[in-house]
Amino acid sequence: MTGTPTTEPVALHWVRSAGELRAALALRLRVFCDEQGVPREIEVDEYDDVARHAVAVSPDGRVVGTMRLVPVGTMVKVGRVAVDREWRGRGIASALLEKGMEYAQGIRAEELRLAAQVAAIDLYRKAGYRPVGQPFEEAGIEHVWMVREVVPVRRGGLSGIARAVGRVRSAVVPGGTDAAPVAGDAPADPHDRA
Ligand SMILES: CC(C)(COP(=O)(O)OP(=O)(O)OC[C@H]1O[C@@H](n2cnc3c(N)ncnc32)[C@H](O)[C@@H]1OP(=O)(O)O)[C@@H](O)C(=O)NCCC(=O)NCCS
Repeated sequence: MTGTPTTEPVALHWVRSAGELRAALALRLRVFCDEQGVPREIEVDEYDDVARHAVAVSPDGRVVGTMRLVPVGTMVKVGRVAVDREWRGRGIASALLEKGMEYAQGIRAEELRLAAQVAAIDLYRKAGYRPVGQPFEEAGIEHVWMVREVVPVRRGGLSGIARAVGRVRSAVVPGGTDAAPVAGDAPADPHDRA
């Protein structure tokens, strides 16, 4: 059950506790399984153990958006982008995607990649991704790979997340001191849904 969204800022940061990770996974189950019919047994997988999870947290402390990042070689895979139904259309997913860019810059990755639901292509296009290859089916939903080149960070420049925050319609604020990413490695999975 979700509450009424306010105009207060949503905080964006990396998962900080086991409880927050549980809330992010619960949001994914609500969005992908209950709403979109993805089988529950494939929603949470082994990548969740190695991924870096970002969350958007509402003023009253609820996780209302999430995304996971898995570095694979010089690439960062973006996955499981989900926003609570009542919090959509406020730029939360866009801000999460910019946080993904910031992470990729931090580990000097060359490319961000995600398997987009075909219905959501525009979201990612607006975030700078372009489709590559042919659509394919995964979890009963049509997907297409999309990629975004990582823009190297310029010293003293405005970070991607700061630009995103300036652009989004709602006030979405990035987390403070938690942005230093740690590069892990994970097996490649050609069909890891965004
Ligand atoms: C898709 C989803 C993550 C978007 O979250 P959001 O916070 O509402 O997205 P934003 O507010 O940042 O939207 C940014 C832009 O993308 C567009 N967009 C958002 N969701 C879209 C969708 N499902 N299809 C097409 N375009 C979409 C918006 O129109 C918006 O453009 P605008 O700024 O010109 O109006 C959210 O609707 C969701 O969780 N859906 C169910 C799960 C899902 O489909 N996840 C994506 C898996 S690939």
